[in-house]
Amino acid sequence: MKPIARPLPEKIILGNWKMNMTSTEARRWCEEFKQLPAIDNSGLWLGIAPPLTVLAEFRALVADSLLMGAQDCSALGPRGAFTGEVSAELLADAGAEFILLGHSERRRGAAAESNGLVATKLTAVQKAGLLAVLCLGESLKEREAGATESVITTQLQESLALSQRELPLAIAYEPVWAIGTGKTAEPQQISAVHQLIGQQMEGREHRILYGGSVTPANASALLRLEAVDGLLVGGASLNAASFREIVGGV
Ligand code: PGA
Repeated sequence: MKPIARPLPEKIILGNWKMNMTSTEARRWCEEFKQLPAIDNSGLWLGIAPPLTVLAEFRALVADSLLMGAQDCSALGPRGAFTGEVSAELLADAGAEFILLGHSERRRGAAAESNGLVATKLTAVQKAGLLAVLCLGESLKEREAGATESVITTQLQESLALSQRELPLAIAYEPVWAIGTGKTAEPQQISAVHQLIGQQMEGREHRILYGGSVTPANASALLRLEAVDGLLVGGASLNAASFREIVGGV
C-alpha cells in the first residue's frame, strides 16, 4: 500500500470514467494516451478513476504516468462478509491511490448517500493511506434559493466530521447543475465557493478542484483562476486526446 505522497502538488487533474469503458476500450484509451506527447508533470498529479472492472488493465498499461483511483468505496470493512462491497483497503491493494467520495451521482442517485455515510467512507480512505477526493456541490434549486454557501458548508463540515486533520485532502467543487450539462459555472461563482471552502480548510493541507462540464476549450481558463488547484473531468476524460489537451492547459 502506497502512502499519499507529501506534500500535495500545486495542481491535480483527475478524470472520472463513471460507468463506462469495456476492457477493450480501456486498453485502447491507454495505448492512445501513451502515444500522445509526454507531459511535464512536475508539480502536477494526473489521474483517472476507471470502473473497478478495468483497474488491472489500467494499472498494467499507464500506472507509470497516471495515478489510478476508484469512484467510491465501501463504508464497511476493511474486510468481512459484506457481499458486493469493496473496501478502501482492497482498492489500495488493487493499486488505487485516490478515491472519489460523495459524488453528486451517489448523493442524489439511487445510493442516496448522506454526509454521515460519506464521513465514514472518508475515514476508511484515510486509514487505507489513500487520498480522499471529497465531492461537494449545490443543485440549481439550492443556488437559486440563495442556499449555496450553507449547502457547501454543511456538506463540508459533516463529511469531514470524523476525518484526521493532519492528513491531506482534495475537495472537488462540482455544482450539480454543471455536471454533464455543458454548462460551466461562471468564474466568479467558482472563485466564491472555492474561497469559502479554502477558509474552512485553513490549517489543513488541501487542494480544491473544480468539476462540471470541463472541456479542452475551457480548461486553461478554469486553471488560471486563483482559487482553482485542479480539475475533475467526467465526459471529456473518456477520450484520451481530450484529456491530454485539458492537461496541456496547466
Ligand atoms: P462532466 O462530469 O465533466 O461530464 O460534467 C464531471 C463529474 O461528474 O465529475
